[in-house]
Amino acid sequence: MKILIVGNGARESAIAMKLKSDKRISKMYFAQGNATTDSIGQNVYEDSVEGLRDFAIKERIDLTIVGPEAPLVAGIVDEFKAHNLKIFGPRKRTAELEGSKAFSKKFMQTHNIKTAKAVVFDAYQEAIDYVRTQPFPLVIKASGLAGGKGVVIADDLAEAESTIHQFMIERIYGDAGIQLVIEEYLRGFEASIIAFSNGEKLFPCIPVKDYKKAGTGDTGPNTGGMGSVAPSPEFTEEHHRDFEENILKPTLEGLHAYNIRFKGFIFFGLMITENGTYLLEYNMRLGDPETQSIMALLENNLFDVITDCLAGNDIELKFSDKKAVCLVMCSGGYPRQIETGFEIRNIDKVHESQVLFAGARMKGDKVVTSGGRVLSLVATGDTFEEARKKVYEDARTIHFDYETYREDIGKF
Ligand code: AMP
Ligand code: GLY
Repeated sequence: MKILIVGNGARESAIAMKLKSDKRISKMYFAQGNATTDSIGQNVYEDSVEGLRDFAIKERIDLTIVGPEAPLVAGIVDEFKAHNLKIFGPRKRTAELEGSKAFSKKFMQTHNIKTAKAVVFDAYQEAIDYVRTQPFPLVIKASGLAGGKGVVIADDLAEAESTIHQFMIERIYGDAGIQLVIEEYLRGFEASIIAFSNGEKLFPCIPVKDYKKAGTGDTGPNTGGMGSVAPSPEFTEEHHRDFEENILKPTLEGLHAYNIRFKGFIFFGLMITENGTYLLEYNMRLGDPETQSIMALLENNLFDVITDCLAGNDIELKFSDKKAVCLVMCSGGYPRQIETGFEIRNIDKVHESQVLFAGARMKGDKVVTSGGRVLSLVATGDTFEEARKKVYEDARTIHFDYETYREDIGKF
């Protein structure tokens, strides 16, 4: 079997490492990959849907797995299916559940999925008139994809008005800001649940906690994710029942009502408040850095569960009882201005954790930084403290110029 994995993050490295030992897989290709994937497969410098399709035809790829949202929203699954290429992920129309917050909010409202109260706007003046009648804080979201930056929690009317102006008039995120979703602010803690879909049913993984803020103690700007732990210690059985009843079940009913029977991943971004579990958003893919912690605990053969889902078979996911901690090491300055090209030293001295590269690439026989989130360190233990000790010991061993990471991942 030849596999193609689309994406370059530590998420894709985690998928690759999980598939690596499978004897049925003869070769793995990565578009565009990173230093991890370069050492266990072949990186392919192609990123357009058409380029990837031609590559998959030429190399007779047996299965393609898509990591990031952009190719899904661009229709990679439709294109591959049109050429009889096997691919795990939703079609373009289904990926709109992530690609359009207006569409996903309407979906949630139509199918009675527990979510924040919200109104969708296409016209600037109507949005402005609306926020003048609302209490604060208020959440303002650009409907389209904005690389995780299109959500602003406005503390007062002035901030709300200027955000609406930036999104709809200045178009700081381009077409993503043509439509807005304006919603009530929910106070609580967040959890991520990712489920496999076999077209008929959804099979959720253990809940994960993602650390979104750049700084220790949840300070500083939002990032793509500075670490994760699984299973989320905050998410109780009761939260889970609430999730199943008010989010998972009506989501599946909604998908069927729209005649959507996709095979891929669906990610539920949850906010747990005093009044229970709310759905903030869907992502139609695996999360990063959630995947790193999930893969560390998943006991199933990943290739088997994906092939079973593609065949429409039911799966039974099994997770270890251990705790997983994933720590993300970043280039100084991330998520703002960064410098790259620095050698990552002492990788061979890491003993306790798995090193999963992201913004790191091979330069000759050296590994150098090439992005904001450079690598993930992942370890498991009987307790979070044990797993935490391992990743932090290894983080102190690895060195690159201007490295930075949070000190409190997995600390409760
Ligand atoms: P989203 O892309 O919709 O998940 O929003 C990104 C982040 O903004 C979430 O992970 C939350 O931290 C925050 N957020 C989104 N919606 C709300 C809300 N209604 N109340 C409070 N925080 C929110
Ligand atoms: N960690 C959240 C995401 O992948 O979007």
